Amino acid sequence: MPEKIQISPQEYKQRRDKLMDLIGNDAIAIIASADLKVRNRDAEFSFRQDSDFLYLTGFNEPKAVAVLVPEREESEYILFCREKDPKKEQWTGRIAGLEGARKDFAADDAFPIEDIDEILPGLMENRKKVYYSIGNNPEFDLQVIAWVNSLRAKVRNGIQAPHEFISLDIFLHEMRLFKSATEIKLMQEAARVSIEAHEHAMKICKPGLMEYEIDAEYAYIFRKRGMEAAYTSIVASGENACILHYIDNNARLQDGDLLLIDAGAENQAYASDITRTFPVNGQFSEAQRLLYQIVLDAQYAAITEAQAGNSWDKPHQAAVKVIVAGLLELGLLQGEPQEIIKEEEYKPFYMHKTGHWLGLDVHDVGNYKLDNEWRTLEAGMVITVEPGIYILPDKKIDKKWWNIGIRIEDNVLITQNGNKVLTEALVKEIDEIEALMQEGKPQSGI
Ligand code: GLY
Ligand code: MN
Ligand code: MN
Repeated sequence: MPEKIQISPQEYKQRRDKLMDLIGNDAIAIIASADLKVRNRDAEFSFRQDSDFLYLTGFNEPKAVAVLVPEREESEYILFCREKDPKKEQWTGRIAGLEGARKDFAADDAFPIEDIDEILPGLMENRKKVYYSIGNNPEFDLQVIAWVNSLRAKVRNGIQAPHEFISLDIFLHEMRLFKSATEIKLMQEAARVSIEAHEHAMKICKPGLMEYEIDAEYAYIFRKRGMEAAYTSIVASGENACILHYIDNNARLQDGDLLLIDAGAENQAYASDITRTFPVNGQFSEAQRLLYQIVLDAQYAAITEAQAGNSWDKPHQAAVKVIVAGLLELGLLQGEPQEIIKEEEYKPFYMHKTGHWLGLDVHDVGNYKLDNEWRTLEAGMVITVEPGIYILPDKKIDKKWWNIGIRIEDNVLITQNGNKVLTEALVKEIDEIEALMQEGKPQSGI
C-alpha cells in the first residue's frame, strides 16, 4: 500500500502561526466548525467540515470552535469541543475529547464547548480586533456579538473590549489560495480517481442506459477509493447538457446524443472538478464534431494562457476568442469578431466564465480581483479551465445544432514556469475518445 498522503500536524500549525502573524498581537480569531444538518426528521446528512475550520485545525467534528490568540502566554490555540462520552459515542461515533484535542490536534488548551460563553469573553479581554467570518452562521454571529457586549459591560473595571470586527476571509482565503506540496498531492490523487471514473464511464456508455446508472458508477469508484463526490455529479445527455447545473440525472441515453458529465472526487476534502463530453453511441456526428473541436481548441488556448504573470482573465479572453472565431466560421454568429466580443454577442452560446479557483471548496475561496483589477496568476494557485458551447433551440439557428451542449473541464496548477494540468491523463481529443469508447464493447463479429 502506498503511504497515505495527509496534511501533517506541523502543516496545520504552520497555517495557524501564519494566520496569527497576519492578524497581529492585538487581535483574536474565532473560527466555528460546521454543524450537523438534518436531512429529514432525525436523519442527518453526512457531516462535511467547514473548509476554513478544517484548513486551520484538521479537526473533523461538529460542535467545535477554534480560537487563536496570538502571543497569549498560557495558550495561543484553544479548541472548544465535545467531551468524551462513551455512551453517546456508541450511538453516534467517536469523539476526540479534550485530551484528544490537545494530544492529536496540537491544541495548546481545550475546553468543553458548553463552557464557551464563560471562557471566551476572557480570551477577548484587551484585544482590539476580532477576526471572524460573519454571515455564515446567524446563530453563532449573535453569540460572538454577545461575548463582545459582555466585555463592554465591564469597561468600568478597566477591561478593554474589542472595538473592531474584521472579516477573517481576507487573510485566511488568501492563504488557502496558494496550495502547498501536500495539498497538490491530495488534489492530484483526487484527479486520478476522477479520471478512472470518467474513463470507465466512456467505456460502459451506450444508448438505453439511464443517466443515473452512469452517475452510480462514479459514486461507486469514488467510494471504492475512499473518496466521495466533491459536488453533485452532472450527468446530462442530449438537451440536458444545455442546463448548466443539471442534476436530475434521470433521462435515458439516446443514440445520436452527446453525454456531458461534470463529476469530480473529493480527497480528504480537496476537490477535483472534471467535465468531459462524449457521444452516447461512441461516434461524434459531423455537427457534434465541429462544435466539440471549437471547445477543445478554446480550452487549449485558455490553458496556454494559464501562466504565472498573466491576468486571471487572460485564459477566459483566449477561450472567448477561439469560440467566437469558430462560431463565425460555422455561421452561428455573424459580424466582426471584435464587435461580437465587445458586445458579448457570443453569450447566448457561452454564458459562463472559463474557470474558478479549486481547492478545499470546488468553487474555492480567494479574490479574483484586487483593487478592482483582475489579479495576476501566481505559482501554487489551482484553477479550472472549462469553456463550453450550449445551443438551445431557436428558429434563427439551423436545426442540426439544436440542443448540443459541450463543456471540457480540466484542473490546472500554475507553476513557476508554466502550468501542470492535474487532469491531463484523461482523454479529450475526438479520436482518443472514440477509441477509448470502443474498449470493453462487444465487437461486431464478421
Ligand atoms: N462542477 C461545477 C463547476 O464546474 O463549476
Ligand atoms: Mn465542473
Ligand atoms: Mn468547475
